[in-house]
Amino acid sequence: MKESQLHEEIRNRYEKESTQCSLLSCGSTLDELKVVKGERILDLGCGRGEETLEAARLTGAGGIAAGLDLTEAMIRQAADHAVSAGISNVIFTKGDIENLPFEENLFDGVMSNCVINHARDKNKVYREIHRVLKPEGRLVVADAVTKDPLPAEVKNDPEAWAQCFGGAITEEEYLESIGTAGFKRVEILNRREYEKNGYDFISLTIKAVK
Ligand SMILES: C[S@@+](CC[C@H](N)C(=O)[O-])C[C@H]1O[C@@H](n2cnc3c(N)ncnc32)[C@H](O)[C@@H]1O
Repeated sequence: MKESQLHEEIRNRYEKESTQCSLLSCGSTLDELKVVKGERILDLGCGRGEETLEAARLTGAGGIAAGLDLTEAMIRQAADHAVSAGISNVIFTKGDIENLPFEENLFDGVMSNCVINHARDKNKVYREIHRVLKPEGRLVVADAVTKDPLPAEVKNDPEAWAQCFGGAITEEEYLESIGTAGFKRVEILNRREYEKNGYDFISLTIKAVK
């Protein structure tokens, strides 16, 4: 599957969702990140920016929250919300989680809620997160994984990837990806099993430290 084809499907889906109130999260990453005053926090695949803005409130004027998303309409919506809420210690950037436009050792905490399943190269995403975190910086990620590998026809369907479905890998593969990026103290905080399109899925919330 070509990257351009996948990104087009993702943008098609999320442009529509940008002005709706649909629930797009699969865990409570912000609560688990336990943000304190003065920190720098990154929200990957921030969507409409609800959690990024809350992180900005928690970190206060001495800190900053950054939201990154592939879909321009999501970034616009998030930036508008920041203006309406009068929150200025926040930045929203259009970008791809596989190539983070940030320098190394910059963030105290990174969160990502139901996003990384969309990425073709999850190992690269986790290497990028590891790069931009400070030493001892923490990651909290909520994401969808499968009990068993999905069949090729699903894995090769970009529309299925855009639906938080086709790009899901097994729990073992997912944890291996985090571990090989160099993270330590990898811990599963929450796990919920569910069925999607006839396949066994698990929603995981994972914490790890650089
Ligand atoms: C299910 S929504 C979750 C949004 C938000 N985290 C929340 O919990 O409400 C997934 C978001 O990830 C974004 N996304 C998907 N693939 C991405 C990528 N490769 N890089 C950056 N953002 C991506 C989508 O545009 C969408 O806004």
